[in-house]
Amino acid sequence: TRVLVLNGPNLNRLGTREPEVYGADTLADLAKLCAETGRELGLDVDFRQTNDEAEIVGWIHQAVDDRTPIILNPAAFTHYSYSLRDALAQRTAPLIEVHLSNPATREEFRHTSVVAGVATGTIAGFGTASYTLALRALADLL
Ligand code: DQA
Repeated sequence: TRVLVLNGPNLNRLGTREPEVYGADTLADLAKLCAETGRELGLDVDFRQTNDEAEIVGWIHQAVDDRTPIILNPAAFTHYSYSLRDALAQRTAPLIEVHLSNPATREEFRHTSVVAGVATGTIAGFGTASYTLALRALADLL
């Protein structure tokens, strides 16, 4: 089964971006971890990142049409992107929202997720393990 793992803005900066919050692993490390975990679980992981809202909305439309399950770290889009939420609301396949940090323990503006209400579930606060836990949850669901 093919699974999309989508990452929003600034996640291309992992490794150098606020490592005390997001850890030392780079996006390439994370992509490798997801590919390896996917292989163990029999999932074919298509891992992508963009800083562009239009691009991520386009990827979601394609996934909706193909009924492809999605693991999504919407990054800052989590907190304000209604276009992302409206795109995700069209899904029929599972959607797992993931975060490296636990937004509930951080600034007030991070306490709202406009994506959570259209997700199957959310995994947050486990660093890169949030992604491997999401892959396992998806493998169980499928
Ligand atoms: C994040 C949390 C968001 O609040 C933030 O804007 C990010 C990353 C996380 O993975 O912890 O860019 O989604």
